[in-house]
Amino acid sequence: LPSHFVLSTGAKIPSVALGVWRAEKDQVGEAVKVALKAGYRHIDGAWVYRNEKEVGQALKESGVPRDQVWLTSKLWNTFHAPEDVEPALDESLSSLGTDYLDLYIIHWPVAFYKDGTKYDRDLTADPYPTWQKLEEMVAKGKVKNIGVSNFNLRRMQNLTANPLKVKPVVNQVELNYWNPQPGLLKWSQDNGIVLQAYSPLGSSEQVKETLSVPVIKDIASEMGITPAQVIISWHIQRGTIALPKSVHASRVEENFKVTALSKEAFDRLENAATSHPPQRVVNPSKNWGLDFDVFDDTPL
Ligand code: A2P
Repeated sequence: LPSHFVLSTGAKIPSVALGVWRAEKDQVGEAVKVALKAGYRHIDGAWVYRNEKEVGQALKESGVPRDQVWLTSKLWNTFHAPEDVEPALDESLSSLGTDYLDLYIIHWPVAFYKDGTKYDRDLTADPYPTWQKLEEMVAKGKVKNIGVSNFNLRRMQNLTANPLKVKPVVNQVELNYWNPQPGLLKWSQDNGIVLQAYSPLGSSEQVKETLSVPVIKDIASEMGITPAQVIISWHIQRGTIALPKSVHASRVEENFKVTALSKEAFDRLENAATSHPPQRVVNPSKNWGLDFDVFDDTPL
């Protein structure tokens, strides 16, 4: 399996990252160190995970040089107004203890007002002004690549219809056995955008169920690997970057040991994943008081 994917900018991004969403402050540092020791060179973080300081500290203590690790952070919803982008980025840079990011992503296609009231309909309908500020951050050298997260096909098409100076290199979305999104994957591949799979195991809510899906268990026992390894390998084989989260050393190590599935096994898993009705694990639309579903655009 490829250890890296090549992005449209020519940058080489490691195909597996340690995800640190829901990694507690007192556990995340150790997980990062274990990951770097196990060979990970990619940490997927975000301002809103509230653990960037701990991640940065662990990276420093690991002794692995900054330029050998791919660091991603994400612009939170309250900072979409163009004048708020650079200060938000600066805060992430300072917490992480670095002067550049490898990748900076618009976390959600939803703009909140800074005082917490929901929500700025103009910037939500059209994130191009936010994107232009991200382009400026690339020009300034503060970020090497820019991308988006949680954008559906319509939003990707709208954004990329603008005269972009810098294209989004990735779209980070939920991808797992329950929600494999083959249509979005095909469009992204046709348009040179790599998908990053968050909640690749189904997140804490669904991980138990995912690991006991018969086809996944069968392939695992045929290959003598674990169900988690089957799933992470499948993601990479689909051409997507897997971002498994764990704060347990043995799982962090396990998740990095990927192996190509045979074409037959891959097809069996792909068919099983895409032949049941898709079921999303993560959807904050209602909690955020949106009057539309952020993924399928239906009114709420
Ligand atoms: P923990 O952090 O306690 O190890 P996802 O990456 O899809 O978001 O899933 C993360 C969830 O899956 C977390 O609850 C994590 O728990 C658990 N997890 C991560 N790796 C494994 C693994 N190899 N085996 C079992 N559970 C795992």
